[in-house]
Amino acid sequence: MAVAEPSLLPHCFLLVFTILLSASDEAVTAGVSIGVNYGQIADNLPSPSQVSWLVRSMQVSKVKLYDADQNVLNAFLDTGVEFVIGIGNENVSAMVDPATAQAWVKNHVQPYLSSTGTQITCITVGNEVFKGNDAALKGNLLPAIKSIYGALAALGLQRQVNVTTAHSLDIMGSSYPPSAGTFRADVVPYIAPLVDFLSMVRSPFLVNCYPYFAYKNDPNSVPLEYVLFQPNDGGTDTTTGLHYDNMLYAQVDSVYAAIQALGHTDVDVKISETGWPSKGDLDEAGATPQYAKIYMGNLLRRIEMKQGTPLRPVVPIDVYVSALFNENLKPGPASERNYGLFNPNGTPVYDVGLRGYLPPIDKSDGTRTGRSRNMWNMQRGICISQGQRRREDGGSEKGECALRQHPQPPSTTLKGEVVVWKRERRSPPAAWDREEGR
Ligand SMILES: *[C@@H]1O[C@H](CO)[C@@H](O)[C@H](O)[C@H]1NC(C)=O
Ligand SMILES: *[C@@H]1O[C@H](CO)[C@@H](O)[C@H](O)[C@H]1NC(C)=O
Repeated sequence: MAVAEPSLLPHCFLLVFTILLSASDEAVTAGVSIGVNYGQIADNLPSPSQVSWLVRSMQVSKVKLYDADQNVLNAFLDTGVEFVIGIGNENVSAMVDPATAQAWVKNHVQPYLSSTGTQITCITVGNEVFKGNDAALKGNLLPAIKSIYGALAALGLQRQVNVTTAHSLDIMGSSYPPSAGTFRADVVPYIAPLVDFLSMVRSPFLVNCYPYFAYKNDPNSVPLEYVLFQPNDGGTDTTTGLHYDNMLYAQVDSVYAAIQALGHTDVDVKISETGWPSKGDLDEAGATPQYAKIYMGNLLRRIEMKQGTPLRPVVPIDVYVSALFNENLKPGPASERNYGLFNPNGTPVYDVGLRGYLPPIDKSDGTRTGRSRNMWNMQRGICISQGQRRREDGGSEKGECALRQHPQPPSTTLKGEVVVWKRERRSPPAAWDREEGR
């Protein structure tokens, strides 16, 4: 990943983005447990230590990586943020070898599992392996997962860290109605033993779910309200009598049904990616910031309500939203480069009620105590530049005061920060609102 030069970053990165959930301003509060996918297919992203700040200030407590980037993991040491890390498809086959798997776990997982440090809670071996045509890779997937599990078990870490893989919904043969969900016949020989294994080691089944794709492919017959979690008639699965008011839940339940058809009711389905693009090519219906904001805002609200799907009402949906940043080097249609909550310069792409700060400078010296101190300095740096800007603008120093109220350095736990967010949002300094052009 390339690191943005500080000089490319605007003077003040105080991002104040308040609430889209206008009807229920208090909706996004402490206790929302969302994860974000921190994809890095871009050459213009902020440094990991800046991103560490941003993520924690958004009160996001779970991050998913597609690799095991040590620069990122080091930037989150001691933060309490939980990580899903990945082994890329290009590295899956090598992991079949137990010695390679052991070396990888020793180097990329074990160092981050101190009781207070970064917590790696899950390893995804490969991503959307069954979407491609690589037969060797498909065959190597479960053996690689087993080797990684064996390596964890050898170190006594198998209960601290789950091992699984993330699927695209491509693996579904049928998914409508949800109770009729089955996997594609050609992937069943791979997925059936995988599900047996996940059940045995109590790891989740991960799926990347994009109701957006369904809408884009058939905007005339897929009701927008149904994919955006807006009020709509929905549909009833006549086999189960269960009612669905949104497509995401129907997708998840179709996966539960497909797993059940393979004989398991004891494997959790989690959403390793979902999102909505804010921009797309001319032929990509629905890719607008307005719809992205509605999708993400309504999704956050469902997460906060700890809703389960109709088939698993007591299992709250577990979601990693995609993605943290727009990624300018992603191949494919324009929508692929526009799933981010943030632009690379730290400004929000749309206002979804998550607020965050991206510090303008990256002074991290990589040591633990030094890092904490520098993060605190960075915060004061923002404070000061906010105040300065205000004076230049002839305005008040409210921004500075508000930041001074921030009672703890940002290296503190997320929980400490949540209180601050709530307080700040209840009485946002009026000057900020003007200046941020809300
Ligand atoms: C993954 O594969 C790439 C390309 O073959 C290689 O450069 C890299 O070292 C591998 N990473 C790991 C962790 O094995
Ligand atoms: C592993 O996955 C299981 C099943 O979804 C879950 O109950 C457990 O909390 C996970 N463990 C960790 C460390 O996240």
